Amino acid sequence: MRIFSAFSAISAISSYASFALAQSSPDPVGTIYDGDVPDNLYGSDYPYPWPVKLYNFYNQRQNLTMAFMDVPAPCEHDKNKVAVLLHGGNFCSVTWSDTARRLTAAGYRVIMPDDIGFCKSSKPQGYSYNVHQQAENIKSLLNVLGIEKATVMGHSMGGMIATRFGLMYPDNVDQLFLVDPLGLEDWVAKGVPYVPVDATYQGQLTQNFTTLKAYEQASYFHGAEWKPQYDKWVQMLANIYAGDYGSDYAYVMGLVTDALLSQPIFYHLPLLKTRTYLMVGEADVTALGKQQSPPEVVAKLGHYAELGPAAAAMIPNCTFHMFPGLGHAPFLQDPEAFYKVLLSWLD
Ligand SMILES: *[C@@H]1O[C@H](CO)[C@@H](O)[C@H](O)[C@H]1NC(C)=O
Ligand SMILES: *[C@@H]1O[C@H](CO)[C@@H](O)[C@H](O)[C@H]1NC(C)=O
Ligand SMILES: *[C@@H]1O[C@H](CO)[C@@H](O)[C@H](O)[C@H]1NC(C)=O
Repeated sequence: MRIFSAFSAISAISSYASFALAQSSPDPVGTIYDGDVPDNLYGSDYPYPWPVKLYNFYNQRQNLTMAFMDVPAPCEHDKNKVAVLLHGGNFCSVTWSDTARRLTAAGYRVIMPDDIGFCKSSKPQGYSYNVHQQAENIKSLLNVLGIEKATVMGHSMGGMIATRFGLMYPDNVDQLFLVDPLGLEDWVAKGVPYVPVDATYQGQLTQNFTTLKAYEQASYFHGAEWKPQYDKWVQMLANIYAGDYGSDYAYVMGLVTDALLSQPIFYHLPLLKTRTYLMVGEADVTALGKQQSPPEVVAKLGHYAELGPAAAAMIPNCTFHMFPGLGHAPFLQDPEAFYKVLLSWLD
């Protein structure tokens, strides 16, 4: 896929911004913009299958834009059936598209946000990307959309945000679905050294298709064959790194990694009041800080085959499934196996 012309993308964004953000004073509630948006928005040119809407809001003393898709349920819709899908750190909301189709067919309206800092959302540089803040941003989007209660599903980093969302807003969650969530262990307690924001930033600056694919092969599809259909998700990311916001995005990754490493959710799992469904791939070996850790620490990290059952035992109301042989992204690696479990749980 080609990067869109920087000039037309920038002028489209700035003309949009002056229009959509036109407000006389900071508006903490925010507004929804559902007019045209440029194909290349905040550095992401990946095409989304449903209209991209924008939630413009004021937070941490700045104007932010959260891109999202809002897929209506077909025909007669029980308005209590709403699902919110939270993407992983190396993915975007659009990675959930097939899942959204399955859920709408099952009668759900599906909301798919790009987290602040990611994909088609704005990438503030001076911002606390703490997990509570990301959960609060999702909640404020739901408030503006008039959605009081939802099924919240999160993958990887999105699973950590979904868990935090469940802890912060138990009355607003019907059920939680966690798919290979991050945070089932305290990486730092296991020996991961402090990773300075600037070090992550420097490392992220050189990311490209080759390095991203190598990371995903090693961490997400460990020991499994690489399938051509994964390429587009790597290209989607590589284009962000290569685009106008590449350096900003690399820095966001530094801030996000810092937040995730220093905010273990592991200890809070027993506090979850929400009905929770946890699924993990048996072969998942994903862990933050692995690349910066000595071998004896690496050996202790990311064993989802053990972390999954242990986390399920810590969560008060949890149903657990482990996918034999699958890695970090079971919905990409074996969609049929994934949907079989998901749809059986939705019944
Ligand atoms: C936010 O946007 C409004 C409207 O465009 C503008 O008046 C204000 O100065 C902006 N605030 C910041 C902190 O950029
Ligand atoms: C990607 O980055 C790596 C490491 O910086 C470099 O060796 C490689 O040539 C780059 N590949 C492409 C396709 O740019
Ligand atoms: C788990 O949650 C479900 C749905 O809210 C509820 O019906 C059930 O009683 C809960 N079970 C326990 C052990 O709390």
